Amino acid sequence: MAPGFVLTGLLVATFSIALASDPSPLQDFCVADLNGPVLVNGFSCKDPKMAQATDFSFSGLHIPGNTSNPVGSRVTPVTVTQIPGLNTLGISMVRIDFAPWGINPPHTHPRATEILTVIEGTLEVGFVTSNPENNLITKVLQKGDVFVFPKGLVHFQRSTGYGYTIAIAALSSQNPGVITIANTVFGSNPAIANDLLAKSFQTDTKTIDWIQSKF
Ligand SMILES: *[C@@H]1O[C@H](CO)[C@@H](O)[C@H](O)[C@H]1NC(C)=O
Repeated sequence: MAPGFVLTGLLVATFSIALASDPSPLQDFCVADLNGPVLVNGFSCKDPKMAQATDFSFSGLHIPGNTSNPVGSRVTPVTVTQIPGLNTLGISMVRIDFAPWGINPPHTHPRATEILTVIEGTLEVGFVTSNPENNLITKVLQKGDVFVFPKGLVHFQRSTGYGYTIAIAALSSQNPGVITIANTVFGSNPAIANDLLAKSFQTDTKTIDWIQSKF
């Protein structure tokens, strides 16, 4: 193989790693055929000539989410599931409602960086770094403040006021995904072995059984 090809190959490999994110579109749009039989990375496209405004819109983000649940928060997603036109575009958004002192428990988005703003109330936010290991980066946000949660890192939010808090966030994937640590570790089906979790959390199996019973 000619050295030029090798170099080009290396450059392509380097750039595709450095710029990894949702795949770049090769056309104006690719409105998701959500019920299509073809399985691809994302969704197959419906005929672009059939695209309509409804494929690119969603209504209802002004409606407060129901926060009557054990954590006191509710995420209303607007991803490719709600807007099929987001398919291949690498972006989505959410509204998050918090009851007073409600939390969005520690979680990660495997496919997205998140940028969040508070439009009502006060919100304590934080994420934990992986390198350097386990530094907590945290801040209390007021209305109008903006904060970034880097892709893949474990993060959380908590409403610290006496009123309701509302946040709007954008995420760098059409389908960011969410892995909520407690639910994943203690609520998997079938359950992860309690003695394995006992050793992981440096506690006893009875404590693990009790926590697992909550999920
Ligand atoms: C909110 O959720 C709770 C618990 O599921 C339910 O009892 C209540 O009716 C819901 N409220 C509204 C307005 O939907």
